[in-house]
Amino acid sequence: MSFKNTSDWLSYDKEHLWHPYTSMTNPLPTYPVESAHGVKLKLADGRELIDGMSSWWAAIHGYNHPVLNAALEQQIHSVSHVMFGGLTHLPAVTLAEKLVNMTAEPLQHVFFADSGSVTVEVAIKMAIQYWYAQGQTKKQKLLTVRNGYHGDTLGGMSVCDPVNGMHIMFQGVLPEHFFASAPDCFADGTTNINTLQRQLQQHQSEIAAVILEPLVQGAGGMRFYCSEYLQQLRIICDEYDVLLIFDEIATGFGRTGTLFAYEQADVVPDILCLGKALTGGYLTLATTMTSKKVVQGISADGSGILMHGPTFMANPLACQVANASIDLLLSSSWEMNIRQIESQLQKELSVCQELPIVKEVRVKGAIGVVELKEPVNMKTMQADFVEQGVWIRPFNKLVYIMPPYIIKQNELMLLTTSIYKVLVNYKPQP
Ligand SMILES: Cc1ncc(COP(=O)(O)O)c(C=O)c1O
Repeated sequence: MSFKNTSDWLSYDKEHLWHPYTSMTNPLPTYPVESAHGVKLKLADGRELIDGMSSWWAAIHGYNHPVLNAALEQQIHSVSHVMFGGLTHLPAVTLAEKLVNMTAEPLQHVFFADSGSVTVEVAIKMAIQYWYAQGQTKKQKLLTVRNGYHGDTLGGMSVCDPVNGMHIMFQGVLPEHFFASAPDCFADGTTNINTLQRQLQQHQSEIAAVILEPLVQGAGGMRFYCSEYLQQLRIICDEYDVLLIFDEIATGFGRTGTLFAYEQADVVPDILCLGKALTGGYLTLATTMTSKKVVQGISADGSGILMHGPTFMANPLACQVANASIDLLLSSSWEMNIRQIESQLQKELSVCQELPIVKEVRVKGAIGVVELKEPVNMKTMQADFVEQGVWIRPFNKLVYIMPPYIIKQNELMLLTTSIYKVLVNYKPQP
């Protein structure tokens, strides 16, 4: 190793490594992680931070879990990777069986990809091929809602919120799709589904599918909405004959209080994207699941060939750690844990509502959001949280947490009290 000490490799990082959504010429500070155990990240200087982010929704069992470690160690001695073209292996088949059994009955077919964004690409291709094979070659557009987030590849980006997703910068490159208002639910039990329905009415002949995140819009705004919206959406998708894609990459595997958010609406999509917590945050793996109807539609022209096949598709290490993570989840008292996290978040974050800089506090399952009136200075607020001994990464107007499900009451309390302390002392920059 050519680095003499931590500050030496940190300056190399600053000089050479691009971090997510940052500038190389004016980089934000990065904190060096030495190790992680349970819900704690240990920095190189010995400080320990309680993790409020689960590494972007993924590390639901915490870090360095002995069961997940053992699954990987065992698999590495058998086969770490093998191409999936023409070959198969038990870790992938076992995982497919688990996923088919734990999701809604119509979702019988599993395509493994290497990241959430890629599963969205695959979902879009499935929907377009479904109509193409049936001679409906004009149905190539997607309909989605504002404030959505579906990944950073061009196809995924094209269905992200056009403002948050900076579509203007990629105009002419991004495919142009249709957008309806972000889902809203009103006190009288009605919703604003009519804006989406209007788009369907106008563009039905061009629309292959509707895609959205059920119940919780994540990185596009951390917005929550009601299950009635999804019920109405399913009805109108059937009425106008378009497919329905749910992106549960963030919400899947218990985060909202049910294994999958769609269960709360009792609505089944035609295509489902899963990722993030699939491997308990250990390795990158994601999946696009679909129904017999879609598979048969894609095969209607006699070929049925789905045009996708990544090199690391169904990586055996990733599949095996996913198998262990799902077993761990299902054998734990995850529902109770999420309910406890939810009620603690509701109780302890509500004080933030009184702060003049706060617009709204909202909680759903193991997700707590404090929305501010103005965007925050991420650099200074990030440092304030580290000072408090917690890892919380705010963005734009949002300070939010989605901790590992194993978090203890006192650890969660440190997260919530830190949010209050940091916000009460926060001085918005002019
Ligand atoms: C709902 C949703 N879809 C897609 C993605 C993209 O997943 P990945 O970052 O694994 O490509 C994300 C990531 O945050 C997400 O939250």
